[in-house]
Amino acid sequence: ALTEVLRSRIKMKGPLTVADYMRDCLTNPMAGYYMHRDVFGTKGDFTTSPEISGMFGEIIGVWAIYEWMQFGCPSPLNIIELGPGRGTLADDILRVFPMVFPKMKDLDKLVRYHMVEISPKLSEMQAEKLSGRKPDESEKPKVEGAPFYKQCKSKYGPEVFWYRTPDQVPRGFSFFLAHEFFDALPIHKFQLRDGEWHEVLVDVDDGPDGDHFRYVLSREVTPMQKVLLNDGDERDHIELCPDAGVIVQDMAQRIKTDGGFSLIADYGHSGEKGHSFRAFRDHKIFEPLQEPGTADLTADVDFSFLKEAAGNRVACHGPITQRDFLHNMGIELRLQILLKNASEKDQHDLISGYDTLTNPEIMGERFKFFVMMQNRKNEYTPTGIVSPTEHKPLVKSKKPPQQ
Ligand SMILES: C[S@@+](CC[C@H](N)C(=O)[O-])C[C@H]1O[C@@H](n2cnc3c(N)ncnc32)[C@H](O)[C@@H]1O
Repeated sequence: ALTEVLRSRIKMKGPLTVADYMRDCLTNPMAGYYMHRDVFGTKGDFTTSPEISGMFGEIIGVWAIYEWMQFGCPSPLNIIELGPGRGTLADDILRVFPMVFPKMKDLDKLVRYHMVEISPKLSEMQAEKLSGRKPDESEKPKVEGAPFYKQCKSKYGPEVFWYRTPDQVPRGFSFFLAHEFFDALPIHKFQLRDGEWHEVLVDVDDGPDGDHFRYVLSREVTPMQKVLLNDGDERDHIELCPDAGVIVQDMAQRIKTDGGFSLIADYGHSGEKGHSFRAFRDHKIFEPLQEPGTADLTADVDFSFLKEAAGNRVACHGPITQRDFLHNMGIELRLQILLKNASEKDQHDLISGYDTLTNPEIMGERFKFFVMMQNRKNEYTPTGIVSPTEHKPLVKSKKPPQQ
């Protein structure tokens, strides 16, 4: 169905940018890849770190609590997760809160979880996971005209809300979390040919081999080329994601004015890589222009572009590798504790999960962690994200003198 929609659009209006093609393939309301199916795990097309082991989400939860405490636990803490998948990471993070604050009665007032999710199917799965029960009418927003489209009480106490875009989430002190979200945002592709830059476009292909689409190069300078390309880049392919720039700019501004911090974890580079646009289907690399809507389309995140978008509104740290982040946060210690009371089968799963997450040959080095922080006195060392032991204690502001 999507093939026909895209073909007639191209025939009427001319070739599409890769960004327009990617957006439709992933999030077209009728036939977008993410909209109506569970795409994760062995039966899906790919597996993400939160799905590999609960240790991953627990560690992110502990890190977030630690950072929140460094800011003096402003309440409420809004956790804003972009692209929460099956809701596994949210579930593991919320599970950590009662472990760290076992005597805290008002956890539900202290923490609010906001999901930014475009997929009706995945939002249903997330609600089921977090509430611990089948979706029902009670998940409809209780307030008319609310910016969220769904709400539920999580089994851990805090209320959870769902939005379609990040700008709909209410303001306030926030922890922004995006795990494998930015790589799914639409990119524009540019290619250098005979000393001239061109935007790469997607056109119909009516050739004899039965393919429906092919890449072509723009004849004219496109609007995005004018806005996005800098002179002097030495690469011959460049991929840029303006949507990511806008989201990060807004995130950084909110962190600056309302307080908070963010963690963006994804595969990516620091502005040195060119061609990375690809598709995954059934855990294998797939051709992005084939059978649109049936495979995950993705491109490496350019962290240098995100840093540039954040500007000097916030302190940026990293990116560092997933392996370093998890090691700095003590994943070995957590593994040892869990192994003590585990059955033989669970021990095997724990060790294999630990290896997959941290092994440089598997996910350890491919995935990078990038942090933005509201500027505060007890600043990190500029070498990247460091372990909590290297933080200085919170410096509390002095009360004004008594009258
Ligand atoms: C690759 S999955 C990552 C899922 C999860 N974070 C994980 O690591 O398991 C991308 C997620 O982002 C969501 N998503 C993709 N594009 C989106 C958009 N434009 N707005 C909101 N959510 C989007 C998808 O529905 C999915 O939940």
